[in-house]
Amino acid sequence: MATIIPVSPFDYVVFGATGDLTQRKLLPALYQRYRDAQIPETSRIIGASRSHMSLEEFREHARDALKSFVPPSEIDETKLAGFLDHLFYVAVDALGDEGWDELKALLDERPDRIRPYYLATSPDLYGSICRNLDRYGLIGENSRVVLEKPIGKDLKSARAINDAVGAVFPESQIFRIDHYLGKETVQNLMALRFANTIFERLWNADVIDHVQITVGETVGVEGRGGYYDTSGALRDMVQNHILQLLCLTAMESPISLDANSVRDEKLKVLRALKPITSADVQSVTVRGQYAAGAVGGRPVEGYQADLDSGMPSRTETFVALKLEVRNGRWAGVPFYVRTGKRLPKKLSEIVVQFRASPFSIFPADAFGREPNRLVIRLQPEEGMKLEVMTKDPGPGGMRLRPTNLDISFEETFKQRYPDAYERLLMDVVRGNATLFMRRDEVEASWAWADTLLQAWTDRPEPPRPYAAGSWGPTASIALIERDGRTWHEEIG
Ligand code: BG6
Repeated sequence: MATIIPVSPFDYVVFGATGDLTQRKLLPALYQRYRDAQIPETSRIIGASRSHMSLEEFREHARDALKSFVPPSEIDETKLAGFLDHLFYVAVDALGDEGWDELKALLDERPDRIRPYYLATSPDLYGSICRNLDRYGLIGENSRVVLEKPIGKDLKSARAINDAVGAVFPESQIFRIDHYLGKETVQNLMALRFANTIFERLWNADVIDHVQITVGETVGVEGRGGYYDTSGALRDMVQNHILQLLCLTAMESPISLDANSVRDEKLKVLRALKPITSADVQSVTVRGQYAAGAVGGRPVEGYQADLDSGMPSRTETFVALKLEVRNGRWAGVPFYVRTGKRLPKKLSEIVVQFRASPFSIFPADAFGREPNRLVIRLQPEEGMKLEVMTKDPGPGGMRLRPTNLDISFEETFKQRYPDAYERLLMDVVRGNATLFMRRDEVEASWAWADTLLQAWTDRPEPPRPYAAGSWGPTASIALIERDGRTWHEEIG
């Protein structure tokens, strides 16, 4: 059983309380924490949004969300009723005056509570909500503000958001979410690297040939076309989630687990990332867009049909990149990353491929493939595999074949793997910012992404089509194969 340490009593205010993120992620995560008795009974969760609804209607709305997004086996009717009793609701106009006095009156009942404000709204409203929080005297020492991505669509807009929020909240009270950092296996990356001497000593260009990061999704744009079409895979997945995974894989050991020490090290990686300019954009990047195909045996439409806008779109739903981290540890070690919608599997993994031995006593045909890969599986089936070469059993010669030293975390620890938001929402209450992005990190990753976006603008090419249900355009396979390497595939 995991150890559950209750947090201090809080008033969690969720702006965007009727939106998709609140329904799918925030309410289910808070319910799970309540079910595990981590939330003190006097705490309140206060929904705020523009819609006018009664408290009963809001609780009904929340009940429906929980029934839809929490697995039925994890719904305990008594706990569910108890959880709903902690919900409150205020109709607030983020841009105007309506509702703010009511919100203040509710919060003033318990002035010394930990008070996180979760902004699950469009980022356009972040500045205005923060200004109103300040104007109505709702910010104190115990307040924190939580910002969902996207924080901007380029460096300039990210700075504008950071300036507006930073005008009323000190950096130490700002929690920028990248939910990938809350995934158990992502945190396990730090445990793996810094609590196991065998890996950390091998974690460098002398021993590692290359690293691959794949974040594949089977879903398409699922009704988010309006947002997605102005974003694309680079902004939606690479600038944040993938770069964060890369940072945790590549960073030096922080001096402690304290938030700023970890973030200092991640920032150094972002600053060491080689910018991709128009000179090399064609050789190290591939953009793709899904066409009709089949995923999991089910026929699906292409991106243009999913968008249903009638306008041709050049937005990428897939991207593959060859990246370089310019420092002593990683000199000459490529990081191949790829992510896309409508791929054959929902799969996120980091693959560390070790170099082949410079000399082998085994005959050249003894090997089926390159030896020694460490595969860190983030989802689904969180776990880790180390591929080692073993002798193929049986008489007659010495043939080798790769076998897995395989740890499935769920089987090993025999417990439910919490959703990333469960951890992150409670870390905000604790005031622990280790798994959140600091302003300079967000801006450094936008600075890098802006250079690439500019390079794509300077060398305009339509995204390459790929059939839904495939691993992206063939050019993404060529991207790695021309270096004599291949994307990782499962071994049996
Ligand atoms: C979000 C992206 O940040 O992450 C979505 O906006 C994407 O497009 C999602 O689907 C993936 O998250 P997860 O946890 O399902 O891998």
